[in-house]
Amino acid sequence: MDAPILIIFGITGDLSKRKLLPALYHIFSQQLLPPDTKIIGISRRPLNVDELLGSVELCVLEKDNVCDPAGIKRLKDALESFQLEPSTAADYERLKQRLTQLDAETTTGNREHLFYMSIPPDAYKPIVTALGEAGLNDRRSRLLLEKPFGYDTASAENLIELVDRYFTEEQVYRIDHYLAKETAQNLLTFRLYNPIFSSLWNAEHIERVEVRATEKIGIEGRAEFYEQTGALRDLIQSHLLQLLAITLMDLTADMTSAEIHRTKQYFLEQLLPADPQLALRGQYEGYRQEVNNDNSTSETYARIHLRHGAERWQGVDFILETGKALPEKLTEITIHFKTTHNHSSNNLTFQVQPDEGIKLDLIVKAPGLENETRHTALDFDYQKLYADTQHIDAYERVLLDAVRADQSLFSSDAEVLATWRVLQPVLDAWKDNSSGLLIYPQGTLPGKA
Ligand code: BG6
Repeated sequence: MDAPILIIFGITGDLSKRKLLPALYHIFSQQLLPPDTKIIGISRRPLNVDELLGSVELCVLEKDNVCDPAGIKRLKDALESFQLEPSTAADYERLKQRLTQLDAETTTGNREHLFYMSIPPDAYKPIVTALGEAGLNDRRSRLLLEKPFGYDTASAENLIELVDRYFTEEQVYRIDHYLAKETAQNLLTFRLYNPIFSSLWNAEHIERVEVRATEKIGIEGRAEFYEQTGALRDLIQSHLLQLLAITLMDLTADMTSAEIHRTKQYFLEQLLPADPQLALRGQYEGYRQEVNNDNSTSETYARIHLRHGAERWQGVDFILETGKALPEKLTEITIHFKTTHNHSSNNLTFQVQPDEGIKLDLIVKAPGLENETRHTALDFDYQKLYADTQHIDAYERVLLDAVRADQSLFSSDAEVLATWRVLQPVLDAWKDNSSGLLIYPQGTLPGKA
């Protein structure tokens, strides 16, 4: 394989600084891509690579007690900036020439071109169109798109139509970095290779499934993004619905990328539209000052309740919850099993972060003459078990999989549309009004303060 070229639109943005550049640093530090891999950072204004890297905390993961100077140098050498005005066709011709020059540096001249859109969806249109019109959509080109993919069903449909005009579905990688997290990966392995649980995976045995991603941080200066997005679009439409789907979708013995997408889509399309009456939203105190909008109705906390149309999941409650400025950073999926006695139920938890692992909560007899019961857990902790193993961060995985053309961990157009359709009634009910919006003190759970 010739060394690829990664062209990043939005290289100076928040996502790039928080996730992408640190992930790239790790990739270069561990030499996970061919040495001649190039990164082109696109920006409207002149951009100095040294200054950009100097403004980013690259060594953010626990494994980086010490920053690797060789890794930083390799990243610096690979990265160049390119000034481009998104709506100026001539700039894309210059970009094409630069890519042709870089292609010629390799023996076969056959580099893959990965265009990474680390920009809001309303900025896609001129760029995707111009790439297509400039012929930068040939079979070596891939388009990586960040979430949220649209703002609602109609805008997602429009985006799909736009992207389809120039790129095939095989060239498009819609990123959901939660799917690339280790425990999310392990979910499929767990389900596939531990058939003792498969006969319990239905409404006869499961009472409810909760998918929760809470954060301690606030919006960290992303006022413009968050005012347009809110918690429902930011995490539930993408990360949490995808996690729910991989937890519950049908599995077949041969889980190829195509098969994963087929069964995931099938599961998502049968989810019933969310009932706004059962949805809850909140906004943390101080948010309005932070975004400088006294009337903001953007939710920083959202909780929805879903049901599924398939007989297998009749009557099972699916609860999805997320929010910022909450008491803790935690992402987990909990399966609550039904109980036949007066005790609380058994549950099985897939903890995605911070301490990745799987926990089965059991009821046992407490020692002594009385027949008292206790909850106890069978616990599997990734960090403890694989303390000496290098863990691959989600964004590293996303980038490496896109280079390897493995689409398993990305979302298909049909999946994205299905998730918007599920949420549309709540989006409509919450639009431009603050009815039911709970204002909660930072560091507390709305409704529980
Ligand atoms: C992003 C959201 O997709 O995920 C952010 O846009 C959020 O608002 C982030 O903070 C959380 O990701 P992680 O990997 O830190 O849990």
